[in-house]
Amino acid sequence: MAIHWKRKLGLASILAFTSPADCANGVSYQSRPDIRAPVLEISFKNDSLITPGYIFIAPYYGDMPGPYIYDTNANLVWSGADGSTTDIFHDLHVCAYNGSDHLCYFQGEQIGGYARGHHEILDRSYSPSASVESGNGLEMSDMHESAVINSTSMLIPIYQPRTTDLTAYNIVPGPGWVIDSVFQEIDIASGAVLFQWSSLDHVATSESYTPPGLNQVVGDGRSNASAWDYFHINSIDKNGEGDYLVSARHTSGIYKISGADGSVMWRLGGTNSTIQLANYNFSSQHDARFREENATTTVLSLFDNGSDKYRNTSAFSSGMIVAIDHTTDTSTLLRSYTAPSAGIQAWSQGNCQILPNRNAFIGWGNIPSMSEHLEDGTPVFFASIADFHTMNYRAYKYEWSAQPHEPPALRAYSPSPNAATTFWMSWNGATEVDYWNIYASTSAAADQLTPIAQADNVGFQTTYTSSAYHPKAFVEAIGKDGRSLANSSTVSTSSILPG
Ligand SMILES: *[C@@H]1O[C@H](CO)[C@@H](O)[C@H](O)[C@H]1NC(C)=O
Ligand SMILES: *[C@@H]1O[C@H](CO)[C@@H](O)[C@H](O)[C@H]1NC(C)=O
Ligand SMILES: *[C@@H]1O[C@H](CO)[C@@H](O)[C@H](O)[C@H]1NC(C)=O
Ligand SMILES: *[C@@H]1O[C@H](CO)[C@@H](O)[C@H](O)[C@H]1NC(C)=O
Ligand SMILES: *[C@@H]1O[C@H](CO)[C@@H](O)[C@H](O)[C@H]1NC(C)=O
Ligand SMILES: *[C@@H]1O[C@H](CO)[C@@H](O)[C@H](O)[C@H]1NC(C)=O
Ligand SMILES: *[C@@H]1O[C@H](CO)[C@@H](O)[C@H](O)[C@H]1NC(C)=O
Ligand SMILES: *[C@@H]1O[C@H](CO)[C@@H](O)[C@H](O)[C@H]1NC(C)=O
Ligand SMILES: *[C@@H]1O[C@H](CO)[C@@H](O)[C@H](O)[C@H]1NC(C)=O
Ligand SMILES: *[C@@H]1O[C@H](CO)[C@@H](O)[C@H](O)[C@H]1NC(C)=O
Repeated sequence: MAIHWKRKLGLASILAFTSPADCANGVSYQSRPDIRAPVLEISFKNDSLITPGYIFIAPYYGDMPGPYIYDTNANLVWSGADGSTTDIFHDLHVCAYNGSDHLCYFQGEQIGGYARGHHEILDRSYSPSASVESGNGLEMSDMHESAVINSTSMLIPIYQPRTTDLTAYNIVPGPGWVIDSVFQEIDIASGAVLFQWSSLDHVATSESYTPPGLNQVVGDGRSNASAWDYFHINSIDKNGEGDYLVSARHTSGIYKISGADGSVMWRLGGTNSTIQLANYNFSSQHDARFREENATTTVLSLFDNGSDKYRNTSAFSSGMIVAIDHTTDTSTLLRSYTAPSAGIQAWSQGNCQILPNRNAFIGWGNIPSMSEHLEDGTPVFFASIADFHTMNYRAYKYEWSAQPHEPPALRAYSPSPNAATTFWMSWNGATEVDYWNIYASTSAAADQLTPIAQADNVGFQTTYTSSAYHPKAFVEAIGKDGRSLANSSTVSTSSILPG
């Protein structure tokens, strides 16, 4: 049972189960008063059709920014936000590093449309495995990508202010300032820069749809501090041949970059496409990924924003799968995924993850919603973060198995030394707990803790109430295989109601 914020709850309702679906923006837990999690509201779900797995999000600009994992019943599984930092987090996802599943995310400071910070990799006990930073003396890396390649390297963007000639934009006498969209491939273990590419060296400022001074976030190009973000790199991928795929929101272009010399091999979309778009278009897109490639065909997935408020190419944002025929330099839309019912026009952010079973999982960006679709586009899940101030850069679904290095948490409460005792237990991030053994003492033998009950693990926090008074207790997490996974420390029962 959880306490719902912005509600006054009396003892009676605290001791009754309430559903997170009926609450305000945040949920807190008696066993973990340091955690407050955004409420995830499921508006549509077909349990027989959704893909097994957990939901990975990193909401920001709301009350409770941080990396979070939820199950598909909207229960919190892990909160990585302990209130110890004012940093924001982005792009929480499962990444294969050093041969096994890890968690990857960006952490840093948001600066308008980009960020400066670093990328963290945690193992399946939520212990840090590695931290990735930009190299070659450039600015700190940006939030828009943290893709691990081949279990060993990471692709990271850098928003690097640089001077250039902007006399064509009446920025005279100059110099003009632009944000060069740089990306680096970093060897995770050593931090070495394996590859570096600069948009300004390869894509002209004339290809931008987003002129200097359009708004404060874009920059007017007149100073370092207001450098013009003409390109706005927002995804980077790499294929088995060693070439890269870059998406840029402000040119509405997707670029294949040679891993040999950084040259642009082809441009899809934008002002200067080398490939014709036969039956579709896209703009302000995100999350361009290589799906399949051979000598004649490239299949990509992307999230079509369709709008940047200033220029609309579509009434609705959508996930897209497109095929490029290199023999004719023509591309066609194979599949698209739009939000159920009214459709959503996201004006920034968003992603399109193709799951191993070919279902699509879509994050709707500045609209803090996520959806799952069958391959044919049929929606089977739709959920939103209740706090409408929140944005979420990307949303993902993955299988995940974790056993936290921190012990389980327990809170025991009784109003007086002859009343019933309530136990709240949780283990932030654990996925394998089946049930809890509760060990507690009695008033007569205060230091002797013996098993008093078992309680099935329910959601993030399990509650058990004993009609007797127990001055001390600890709990034991038992795994799905019957193993003892971990014990909480022994706590004293408090007469102070948590909350
Ligand atoms: C879920 O999908 C199954 C299989 O297609 C279908 O029979 C069922 O009616 C669906 N349920 C809902 C609530 O849409
Ligand atoms: C990689 O994993 C192995 C175990 O599989 C471990 O011994 C080693 O320390 C890990 N290396 C890094 C850099 O995390
Ligand atoms: C431009 O500003 C950045 C901070 O955003 C700073 O790190 C950098 O040194 C400045 N560059 C120049 C050439 O002044
Ligand atoms: C991954 O490593 C293998 C073996 O070194 C190499 O052949 C392949 O091109 C690499 N893939 C990427 C995407 O770098
Ligand atoms: C268009 O792209 C070509 C390369 O395909 C490049 O040479 C040319 O400068 C670009 N034109 C503009 C206006 O950016
Ligand atoms: C390349 O892939 C496309 C579809 O992805 C397929 O239709 C075509 O047959 C493939 N060509 C070769 C030479 O494998
Ligand atoms: C684009 O669409 C949005 C949402 O429908 C609308 O608010 C905006 O005015 C449109 N912009 C243009 C330039 O048509
Ligand atoms: C994009 O495609 C739609 C549908 O074909 C069309 O109505 C619209 O004019 C196109 N927009 C642009 C900018 O080409
Ligand atoms: C698309 O770009 C527009 C303009 O910046 C923005 O308002 C919208 O939120 C974007 N939508 C998505 C899904 O990125
Ligand atoms: C937890 O405590 C129980 C009872 O003392 C013990 O049997 C079990 O081995 C402990 N579990 C772990 C993982 O230490």
